[in-house]
Amino acid sequence: LNSTKKGPESILKTLHHLFSVAIQTACPDITDPPIDIALSGANIKFGDYQCNSSMPLANRYKQLGKKVIPKDLSNKIIANVPPHPLISKFEVAGPGFINIFLNKDYVIQSLSSIIEEGVKPPVLEKKMKVLIDFSAPNIAKEMHVGHLRSTIIGDSIARLLEYLGYDVLRINHLGDWGTQFGMLIAHLQDKFPDYLLKSPPISDLQAFYKESKKRFDEDEEFKKKAYASVVKLQSFDPDHVKAWELICDVSRQNFQKIYDRLDIKIIERGESFYQTRMEKIVKELSANGYLEDDEGRKVMWGDSGSIPLTVVKSDGGFTYDTSDMAAIKQRLEEEKADWIIYVTDAGQATHFQIIFACAKKVGILNPQIHRVDHVGFGVVLGEDKKKFKTRSGDTIRLLDLLDEGLKRSLETLQEKQRDKVLTPEELKNAQESVAYGCIKYADLSHNRNHEYVFSFDKMLEDKGNTAVYLLYAYTRIKSIAKNANLTPDKIKNLAKTHKVSLEHEKEWKLGKVLIRFPDVLLKIVEDLCMHHLCEYVYEIATTFSEFYDSCYCIEKDSSGDVVKINEGRILLTEAAALTMERCFDILGLKPISKM
Ligand code: ARG
Repeated sequence: LNSTKKGPESILKTLHHLFSVAIQTACPDITDPPIDIALSGANIKFGDYQCNSSMPLANRYKQLGKKVIPKDLSNKIIANVPPHPLISKFEVAGPGFINIFLNKDYVIQSLSSIIEEGVKPPVLEKKMKVLIDFSAPNIAKEMHVGHLRSTIIGDSIARLLEYLGYDVLRINHLGDWGTQFGMLIAHLQDKFPDYLLKSPPISDLQAFYKESKKRFDEDEEFKKKAYASVVKLQSFDPDHVKAWELICDVSRQNFQKIYDRLDIKIIERGESFYQTRMEKIVKELSANGYLEDDEGRKVMWGDSGSIPLTVVKSDGGFTYDTSDMAAIKQRLEEEKADWIIYVTDAGQATHFQIIFACAKKVGILNPQIHRVDHVGFGVVLGEDKKKFKTRSGDTIRLLDLLDEGLKRSLETLQEKQRDKVLTPEELKNAQESVAYGCIKYADLSHNRNHEYVFSFDKMLEDKGNTAVYLLYAYTRIKSIAKNANLTPDKIKNLAKTHKVSLEHEKEWKLGKVLIRFPDVLLKIVEDLCMHHLCEYVYEIATTFSEFYDSCYCIEKDSSGDVVKINEGRILLTEAAALTMERCFDILGLKPISKM
C-alpha cells in the first residue's frame, strides 16, 4: 500500500475502475456498459458498497436477443474483479445485487496515514486555474444578506478547491461603475457641497443614492445633469474621478469590516476594471456582426428563444451585461482561467446562461477546455417566512446582523455557564467562533438551491446539525486524549507502535465513515453543493458519539486517575478529530480548544 504518498484513494473511483474492468471482461458483447456503484444503506448485511449493474446489463442482453439471468451475470462479474486490497469479499443478493465488503486492514492503513501524515486531499486529475467570482456587493449601497450568502458560499468553495490543489483566484466583481455614479455625484453637488473633500458616511450614502434615483426619474433637468456627470466620469474628469473614489472608499471600508470579521480573503476587481475592455469588446462584437439594433439599443442573442443581452443602451452607455462579456473574455483569455465559478442569487441564472451562450458563440468560451458554472442560491427569509427585513421594513445591515450574532452567542455560552470556566480571552474566542461559525454553517448546511430561513434560535441550538453541536462535539473528542495526557505528537508516535482499533462494530462503522472523506470532496467538485460536507461532518460527529457510548477509550479508577488507555481507540479518536478539523477548515469554521 503506497497510495498514501499520492494522497488517499477515492473508494468510489477505485470500485468504479475495478468493476468496469470486470464488466468489460464478463460482458464483451456489450458496448459502453452501465457501471453503477453506490454506498450501501444502513443495513450492514448488504455490505459497505453495492454494484447494481447486473439488472440493466441483463436488459441490454435482452435487446440483443439473449436471455441472461442477472444473478449469473453477477457471479461472472465477481470472478473477473481484479484483486485489490480495498475489498475483503463479495456477496450476491436478491435478483443480482453485488454487495461489496471492505477490508479492515485497508481501512486501518488509511486511518494510520491520516494520523501520521495529516488528512491529505485526493489527487487531482488535472490542475486547473479556477476563478471564483463571489460576494460582489455594490458601491454606495449596503451589502445585503444575498451578498452575505454569496460571500459565505464562494469562500467555502474557494477553500475546498485550494485544499484540493487548484490554482484559485478569488475575485470581487464589485458594482462600482455605471450611470448611477453620474446620478449620485450630480446629486451630491447639490446636497453635499463637501463631496470633493470627503464622502458622506456609508449610512447616508444609501439615502443619497435613493434620492438621486428619484430625482433622476422625475426631474428632466436633473437627468441631463446626471448624464453630463457620467460622461465626465467616463472621460476621467479629475473632480469626478475624485468624488467617485471617495464614495468607493467609504463603501470599500464598510465591506472590508465584514470580510475581516468573517475571515474572507478576496481580491477587488470591480466592473470599472473592465472599462476599456468593454469599449473593445463592443467594437469587436459590432465588427463581427453580432449586434442587432433594437429600438436604439444594441443587443446580442445567445441561444434563440431566450432573451438577448443589452450590450449598449440607447443612450450609448454600457450595462451589467457588457461588463460580464468583457469580464469573461478577460478571465479566459488574459487570466487563462480553465474554470470560472459565479456565485450569485438564483435570480441571475438566466443572465449567466446567456452570457455563457454568447461567449460560446463568439469563440471566447470553448466547452471542450473550459468549465463555467453559475452557483445560484435561494433567497434568505426571516423567521416569518417573508423576505428578510428589519421590523421597520428596511434591509438588514450586515454589521448589525453580525453584532446580533455575537450577542446571541455570548448569551448561549452564559446559559451553559461557560463564562464561569473560561478566561475572558477564551470566552471571547468561543463567542466569535460560535457566532460567525453558526452564521456560516447555517447557510452552508442548507441545499443552496432552496430558499433559507435565517434564525438565530435555530442556528444556536446545540442539538442537530448545527455549528454549535459540532464545535462542542469536536472539543469533547479532543478532550479524550487530553485527559490521558496524550498530546498530538505523542499520538503520532503511538501510531508507529499501535494499530487503529476496528474490532468493535461501532469502531468499524466510524472507520468506514472517515475514509469516505475524499469521495465527499469529489462529489462537491461536481455539483458545488457544500451541504454534502456539512452532512458528512455531522455524520462523523454522530457516529463518533455512538462509538464513544459503547467503547471506552480510557478507564479511570474511582479517584479519577487514568488506569488504562486503549491506544487503538485513541488513534481512531484522533483520526476523527483530524478529519473534522479539515471539514471545519473548508467550511470556514474555527474550532477552539476550550469552549
Ligand atoms: N454586483 C452584482 C449584484 O449585486 C453581482 C455580481 C456578480 N458577478 C458578476 N460577474 N456578474 O447582484
